[in-house]
Amino acid sequence: MTTFSAVEALSGMSSLPSLSSRAEYEAGLDRLREASRTYYGAGYSLMDDVTYDRLRLAVKAWEEENPDEVVPASPIDRVADGAAPAGDVAHTTRLLSLDNVFTPEELVAWGASLQRRLGHEPTGGFTVEPKMDGAAVAARYRDGRLVQIITRGDGAQGEDVSHVIGTVVGLPEQLTVPATFEARGEVLFTQEQFEAANEVRTAHGGAVFANPRNGAAGTLRAKDRPYRLAMTFWAYGAVELDGEAFLPAGATHAETLAAVARAGVRTTAETPAGLHVVATLDEAQQRVDAIAAMRSGLPFGIDGVVVKADSAAEQAAVGSGTRFPYWAIAFKLPAVERQTVLLDVVWEVGRTGVLAPTAVLAPVELDGSTVTRATLHNPADILRRDLHLGDTVTVHKAGDIIPRVEAAVVELRPQDATPVPLPAECPNCGGEIDKSQERWRCAKGTTCALAPLIEYVAGRDILDIDGLGRKYVDALIASGDVGDVADLFTLTEEQLTAASGSAKRGAKLAEQIRLARSRPLSRVFCALGIPGTGRSMSRRIAAHFGTMEAIRAADASVLQDVEGIGPEKAPVIVEQVAASAGVIDKLIAAGVTMTEPQQQKSEEAADGPLTGRTVVVTGKMTGPLDGWGRSEMGALIEKAGGRVGSGVNSRTTYLVAAPSANGKPSSKAVKAQELGVEVLTPEAFATLVADYLD
Ligand code: IVH
Repeated sequence: MTTFSAVEALSGMSSLPSLSSRAEYEAGLDRLREASRTYYGAGYSLMDDVTYDRLRLAVKAWEEENPDEVVPASPIDRVADGAAPAGDVAHTTRLLSLDNVFTPEELVAWGASLQRRLGHEPTGGFTVEPKMDGAAVAARYRDGRLVQIITRGDGAQGEDVSHVIGTVVGLPEQLTVPATFEARGEVLFTQEQFEAANEVRTAHGGAVFANPRNGAAGTLRAKDRPYRLAMTFWAYGAVELDGEAFLPAGATHAETLAAVARAGVRTTAETPAGLHVVATLDEAQQRVDAIAAMRSGLPFGIDGVVVKADSAAEQAAVGSGTRFPYWAIAFKLPAVERQTVLLDVVWEVGRTGVLAPTAVLAPVELDGSTVTRATLHNPADILRRDLHLGDTVTVHKAGDIIPRVEAAVVELRPQDATPVPLPAECPNCGGEIDKSQERWRCAKGTTCALAPLIEYVAGRDILDIDGLGRKYVDALIASGDVGDVADLFTLTEEQLTAASGSAKRGAKLAEQIRLARSRPLSRVFCALGIPGTGRSMSRRIAAHFGTMEAIRAADASVLQDVEGIGPEKAPVIVEQVAASAGVIDKLIAAGVTMTEPQQQKSEEAADGPLTGRTVVVTGKMTGPLDGWGRSEMGALIEKAGGRVGSGVNSRTTYLVAAPSANGKPSSKAVKAQELGVEVLTPEAFATLVADYLD
């Protein structure tokens, strides 16, 4: 019992644990075997990677200290820890795994070991590429035709999974050249494919995949599903097949991948993270950092960055061990996924009246912070995932992305777990819930959570009523003076004085509200609090229709002409605009602007300093733009004639970013540097658009 809990406790530890007895060692081995068996066999994870790696390192350390006591069948030095189903197709040459490092110092130590094995400093340079978090396969092409796909298995023999031929992007069934070779690489679901796959699965009554990696491994194994799921392949190597010449003599790693790409198969070089050839390990470390910074923006999961000696001769000279080559190393990145227990689900009503569920979790360390709460989408999603209180769930968090619950590990469900209860009444007002959409909403709509809505619309980038904070908003609602957004515009100075407790403040607020009457339609429309019409969507709607009258006249099909409004969203907006008729009429009666100054905008835009330019903004603004949010920056860029970009790409003209406080450039800054996009400080940008700052 003590032994078991010592091993159990490893999951919660942040430093590397150590095993103190043979009994603990054996218990650790048992847990590792069980975890690998379920992972490779049944396709679910009994523990997350962090917990597994820690336990594995502790077992390995114990074996190193007690070499005479190592059990004969220890999985520690075998490919896939000896647990992957071997299959019956022999590999042409062994399909190896990779050794890991976790710090720059360990990378330097790996470089020293490389030099030791070579007998001299490596001269052929290094390659740096992403370590894709999927399942390894070998894809055999004969005369340009994809004839077989084989899993890694135990490294010597794999399983034939050719049933996925035709479903893997990047592995065409027919090449344009009659090449014969074997591409080796990783099959995975991109984020988009993962979401589509989960939809297809749940539509077939199946459970969602815990994560893209489990999903890819399971999809390779599943030969008799009634549906097919699209995945993606990226090659990270190639070997010759049937003795046919394919690679140029002495091809480096980069040249090998170039030959694969020429043949028409996707390689790591074609991922947004790319394949980089560098001369020194110092430069390799810089590339590792750059790829790590891009991680949360990549359209697929990576769990590390792989550094390889580029030269074929140097690779051959250092050779390989039983599990991994000595000429390559994985620089592992912090885990972005952990398992933890779902303790509770709390429901809050947002400003639009939508009920938002939040998962309360047993605290878990994830990507540098302790996570105790995570987003859940909506009731339908909770039901689709069949989440129970008490479940062990996988939680995903990367960079500044809000943590989200991915799925429950059903096999670990305790007997007393109960399905997540869904609210029977509005958690805010106790009233009825409108369940007609996937996102449930209080039947009272925006009036239910009026205070957060009014506080939000008084903000600088909407109605900009300076001084109207939550305290006064609460007082105005409590006194009955404000029952909806429109009531703001008929407040008297006396009412505002009473709410704010001072005649001076009352006068100032009255003046601010008077000014707010002339905000453009985009802001007024946003203030209605219609679900799915945040600041940028409201700008698009207002720019498209020009007047509130035109918006009110639009039916669902007309509304779909606006970018970002599809067949699902359109009828909801139409319905909510109709439901807001009373508030809109009151706003009109109060003399609030109901038009968007489009003409003026396009005239300005035609010769603005940003005309024809695309600007991406990231991070906190400083200097004259201090405190400016995304929406205000967007409006400024458009006013100066530019277009707002969301991600840095070849069409980006400027990236506006303040130098990072911790010295680490953001992923967008790294991308901009790579693409040669000009990076402007907020101060420099403010100078450029000085005429447009009001
Ligand atoms: S090189 C002999 N490069 O990571 C070379 N592997 O944890 C061995 N992987 O088994 C592999 N991305 O399945 C290499 N760019 C990359 C990779 C990569 C993902 C996988 C591969 C390997 C596993 C080791």
